[in-house]
Amino acid sequence: MDRLVIRGGKPLRGSVTVSGAKNAALPAMAAVLLTPGELILENVPSLRDVGTIERLLSFMGVESREVAPGTVHLTSRAVRQFEVPYDLVRTMRASVLALGPLLARFGKARVSLPGGCAIGPRPINLHLAGLHGMGAEIDLVEGYVVAKAPRLTGARIHFETVTVTGTENLMMAATLAKGTSVLENAACEPEVVDLACLLRKMGARIEGAGTATITVEGVEDLTGAQHRIIPDRIEAGTLAVAAAITQGDVLIQGCIPQHFEAVMAKLQEAGAAVAVEEGGLRVRMAARPRPVDVTTEPFPGFATDMQAQFMALMAIAEGRSVITETVFENRFMHIPEISRMGADISVGGRAAVVRGIPCLRGAPVMATDLRASASLVLAGLQARAETVVHRVYHLDRGYERLEAKLQSLGGEIRRVED
Ligand code: UD1
Repeated sequence: MDRLVIRGGKPLRGSVTVSGAKNAALPAMAAVLLTPGELILENVPSLRDVGTIERLLSFMGVESREVAPGTVHLTSRAVRQFEVPYDLVRTMRASVLALGPLLARFGKARVSLPGGCAIGPRPINLHLAGLHGMGAEIDLVEGYVVAKAPRLTGARIHFETVTVTGTENLMMAATLAKGTSVLENAACEPEVVDLACLLRKMGARIEGAGTATITVEGVEDLTGAQHRIIPDRIEAGTLAVAAAITQGDVLIQGCIPQHFEAVMAKLQEAGAAVAVEEGGLRVRMAARPRPVDVTTEPFPGFATDMQAQFMALMAIAEGRSVITETVFENRFMHIPEISRMGADISVGGRAAVVRGIPCLRGAPVMATDLRASASLVLAGLQARAETVVHRVYHLDRGYERLEAKLQSLGGEIRRVED
């Protein structure tokens, strides 16, 4: 298993370009199951999770070709399998995004239940309740969801909790349903808006994406389309924290600042100079951060996917901050690891109290999930002496060549392959 070896203490300087968003690419690729036409997707990041969804789609009979770096052509003319096996859902929960499209176009799907994962139970009950509301018959057989519906019918669906992939799954299902669906308390994340944009290009009738109420008028069929995936706001936020934690000066190119305003506001509160410049967002920091309290929330609030990274920054703040995680249970797996680097953090329920120290110390640490890995890399960039981050495959799920990007900014980080 690969590991990253980091010698911290060097300010990052220069410019870096953000890749396409993982969480927009995954549903966009699943959308190929809605049409016999060809989807041409651009700016698809080269990531392990993208490889996983490609494997899943190819298992079903979807043909995919990368015709140029980041440009993928997909067609699902001959779908043979209507199943998402346990192995794929276990590796990547977003595999459940196949459920809505399969059911909508073919009237049947068999998808493994996700089960537990490193950041809490993460059920899919709201996806299933929504599909049931649209007329699907749903059974649980031997750990699989077996869903059937001759044709889904439009319905009013109220999500009791905001769910991103749940909103995406039902929005895709509703595009081919008979009649109109209204999704209430829908997720407003930019990735939901990007998916709606793609679906509209495919002929879907969708209004309200980006607000809490999405209306979808079902159509008979959808066509192929061409679409460019939005930049990854979480990668951009992670690079912004990398600039701040090393007291550096970085221009983050190709990002959409409106997609991570909450993170930028907190960085500014912590003392970073953040400015929209031509070509990107410039983040500079000249001193230790001030302590800032953060509570994670659905978009447009502070993203849970940035919580671990921001905690690494607060670990060296001049004072005490409180970081509260409201979206997921058990998303504090990075704390024991970052504590091994000297961070002073205590947890009570959903809140972590971080008492800043002047400098972290390098140590061997273990990545436990995607964003936890990123926080350990950030901590390593700040720490004195050497940090070794083990189990880097978690990082590779969602960051495209992160160590190469950090190297290009002057970071001393290298990958050691086993
Ligand atoms: C997506 C993102 C992930 C991000 C998360 C929250 C993708 C591929 N992944 O994950 O990076 O961290 O949004 O912004 O886009 N819930 C239920 N029942 C359900 C569905 C969700 O109780 O049927 C709960 C979850 O346990 C969690 C909360 O709702 O507590 C939000 O989860 P959700 O938005 O669904 O996360 P994902 O879509 O899996």
